[in-house]
Amino acid sequence: MKLILENIQELVQVEEKPKTWVAGTEMAKLPVLKDAYLVINDERIESFGLMKDFNSHVVDGANMVMEIDCSGKIVMPGYCDPHTHLVFPESREQEFIDRINGLDYLEIARRGGGILNSAKKMEQAGEQELFESAMERLEEIKMTGTTAVEIKSGYGLTLESELKMLRVIRQLKENSPLMIKSTFLGAHAIPSGYKNNRQKYIHLIIHEMLPEIDKEGLADYIDVFCDNGFFTVEETAQLLEAGIKYDLQPKIHANEMGVTGGVQVGVKYQALSVDHLEHVGDAEIEALLGSGTMPTILPGAAFFLDLPLSPVRQMIRAGLPVAMASDYNPGSSPSGNMNFIQSLACIKYKMTPEEAINAVTINAAYAMGLENIAGSICPGKQANLFITRDLPAHSSIPYYFGNNPVETVIIDGVIQ
Ligand code: NIG
Ligand code: FE
Repeated sequence: MKLILENIQELVQVEEKPKTWVAGTEMAKLPVLKDAYLVINDERIESFGLMKDFNSHVVDGANMVMEIDCSGKIVMPGYCDPHTHLVFPESREQEFIDRINGLDYLEIARRGGGILNSAKKMEQAGEQELFESAMERLEEIKMTGTTAVEIKSGYGLTLESELKMLRVIRQLKENSPLMIKSTFLGAHAIPSGYKNNRQKYIHLIIHEMLPEIDKEGLADYIDVFCDNGFFTVEETAQLLEAGIKYDLQPKIHANEMGVTGGVQVGVKYQALSVDHLEHVGDAEIEALLGSGTMPTILPGAAFFLDLPLSPVRQMIRAGLPVAMASDYNPGSSPSGNMNFIQSLACIKYKMTPEEAINAVTINAAYAMGLENIAGSICPGKQANLFITRDLPAHSSIPYYFGNNPVETVIIDGVIQ
């Protein structure tokens, strides 16, 4: 089956060979073809070019051909969202109200709210209901253009509940058309019962959770919330070392609450990404330069919790790549809309639309190990992309904040 997209007003993020990421001044460059076509052969991208060079022989040998007229529309690679917690039992509006009334995220956490609140509910939740609500969220983010997503455990915090979450993610992988990566985040918070014996909980993660997760092959990555009020740098190192023994590459939460050394410990253990980074300066930027670790910013969490903004301009100026993710979760970012993330990128972080698009496509693909098959319109890559409604240019996507520009989503060459 060949699917031909014709008269595309702007075909965005095209490349002939997959690149790893874009960094520094390169982030401002976005390869766009105007008045273009795209040929999809079964589940893969076959070729693209300008309409004036379109040769009808591209359909030769195909047993079925379908054409879509994309006049006036933009075609983009599906977004990669490399950091979410979208398996969760319940929303947390009360904490939202508590924050409006003056409590902050850390104080709520200290009172047993926050992550521990979700963990309490998780204990009661059944696998089927968790699966169904997460499938609905996947459907929701698919319709706003996301075609690949990383999902973390971390609301379990007991052996049984962490396994339950990871098995739900496995079920999502088997049932959703989206590309999904799974991350074990047993070290998301210290459960109240272990407050006075933190090493006992870390022991549980290392000696009970990790071996079981490995046996069932339930995780692709390991994460630790390395921050003030959560896990120390030394504890993080201990946990990452244990995860690496099971071939789980780190992707960690770092420097959200303060300058904690999280970035440095992530780089030291060759984390694929270090995420949040509201509190970073020259030392963190220095540590990241030359590493293979992707700084991944979560503008939704900074917006929702009213946190200081990560110094993205400074990072790009220093020559770093930057990726962005939604952090979709009930506590700090109850939205998985990557279009809004780009609006925040432009408005709050002063990124250009081109930089924002690079952050949620190619660089985000790298931050979840998918740079060879997702994140751009490239021959041989998976045909995961979307067609917008009529829009004048790719800059319209961040411009129309809060809107959904996506009209048609295609995953594995299939219209959704
Ligand atoms: O990425 N920072 C830590 N973890 C999540 C929030 C989890 C929650 O509050 O439920 C985050 O923001
Ligand atoms: Fe997170």
